[in-house]
Amino acid sequence: MDIKRILLTGCFILAATASQAQKATPKLYHEQYRLQAHFSPKEKWTNDPNGMVYYKGNYHLFFQYYPKATVWGPMHWGHAVSKDMIHWKQLPIALYPDKLGYIFSGSVVVDENNTSGLGTNDKPAMVAIFTHHDPKGEKAGSSVYQNQSLAYSLDEGTTWAKYTSNPVLKNPGIKDFRDPKVFWYAKDKKWMMSLATKDRITFYSSPNLKDWTKESDFGQMLGAHGGVWECPDLFPLKLNGKEYWVLLVSINPGGPNKGSATQYFVGHFDGKTFTPSSTQTKWIDYGPDDYAGVTFGNTGSRKVFLGWMGNWLYANQVPTVKWRNAMTIPRELSLKLTAGDIFLTSNPVEELDKIVNKTIKIDALLLAKNNNVFSVIKQTPSQYVLKFNTKAVKDYSVVLSNATGEKLVVGYDAKNTRYYIDRTKAGQSAFNKQFASVTYVPRVSLLPTSNFQLLVEASSVELFADGGLSNMTGVFFPKKPYTRLSIVNNGMEIEKLQIQPLRSIW
Ligand code: FRU
Repeated sequence: MDIKRILLTGCFILAATASQAQKATPKLYHEQYRLQAHFSPKEKWTNDPNGMVYYKGNYHLFFQYYPKATVWGPMHWGHAVSKDMIHWKQLPIALYPDKLGYIFSGSVVVDENNTSGLGTNDKPAMVAIFTHHDPKGEKAGSSVYQNQSLAYSLDEGTTWAKYTSNPVLKNPGIKDFRDPKVFWYAKDKKWMMSLATKDRITFYSSPNLKDWTKESDFGQMLGAHGGVWECPDLFPLKLNGKEYWVLLVSINPGGPNKGSATQYFVGHFDGKTFTPSSTQTKWIDYGPDDYAGVTFGNTGSRKVFLGWMGNWLYANQVPTVKWRNAMTIPRELSLKLTAGDIFLTSNPVEELDKIVNKTIKIDALLLAKNNNVFSVIKQTPSQYVLKFNTKAVKDYSVVLSNATGEKLVVGYDAKNTRYYIDRTKAGQSAFNKQFASVTYVPRVSLLPTSNFQLLVEASSVELFADGGLSNMTGVFFPKKPYTRLSIVNNGMEIEKLQIQPLRSIW
């Protein structure tokens, strides 16, 4: 992208050549609203990311997929691979519905020790553990229509076969019994499964992925319960050399900003029971559009999270044409002790830097404090990262807008110590009356300065504030692309302002 920086009195203008995305006849992957730095399926519907695992140089991403329409339907597992979690190549569908039902969410492990006998010691199997959801049973009013099953691949994920004695974990009579996330618990040499069981998470263990024993239940009286619990993930993370365990639990509805969201607990796990160290309800992302996220398996001590950039309130109605819904940017997770408690931080993975076209540093703006408008940047790049630090924490906002008056505002409200995304005037919203909203994330950090990072695309924004402690993701649909970017700083000093235009991954 050809970017020219022109200095005017107290104001900068960035001029960008029209991107592919704005050309008259859009190609696949370059349609209006199509994200250029995030994974979305080539065509049709997706929801949850599934089976994320690193194996032999490839990150695998499976995803809830309906290949026949742009609305939810009989679920398959779509499949894509990446060397860096940023550039994705979509592969043939990995798992199709069968006589036991649709293929709901789940995970993939690499069975290195061939505990399942599905591979050999030389050629370990990749094993998918997923929920078989039987739509006929559901319709008939049964309560046992969700069961856990296996499929495996002996060619590094290229082709998949269903295990012949499915299901391996039968429903004991709990209607919502789904989304198994499995990992190898090395200390006891056994597999552990976290399973969403209505209003709690149930932990099971297994020596071989086929025979499962219940170990414990967690959470019936803890955390948020405005909806059913889904898509758990339990994993260790270190803080100052000490090991903690993090449990992610998605819930729908009942999120802090309506509809779907993902809460987390930090605590201890002894191979049987998870014990949280705090009873505070925390959310990995307070925005309306980050749901069902879990972490990649097989990445050592590194933990990378990816969520579905959608909300069940309106995911089936958002105004894209060829495809519907995308994943968040992959996020590196860490723990941080602050405000007397342990919190999870999430930040875009450093691999995102690979598609940074160039970094534009705008230090001179420190001096320009005219009319409250810190800078006006005309003709923004189509997708970019915007970063800055503030010298004090007063009200400020970043406004993305177009000539027709549509605007998206992301900012900080000092009085109520919270960040917000205001998409009430952001563009199309008639498709669902709950869409046009202002959403908030409380500020956790007690620092006197703030650090603000936005990842902006044609139809999504991800906010990572205060080093990834306060995060929000939202989608939006302007009728015309946003071409202006203003930072309203109310006289507050902003430093280290950077804009990083991103190249398209497609
Ligand atoms: C979460 C979820 C899961 C389920 C899947 C079905 O978004 O409802 O609980 O497995 O989607 O597509």
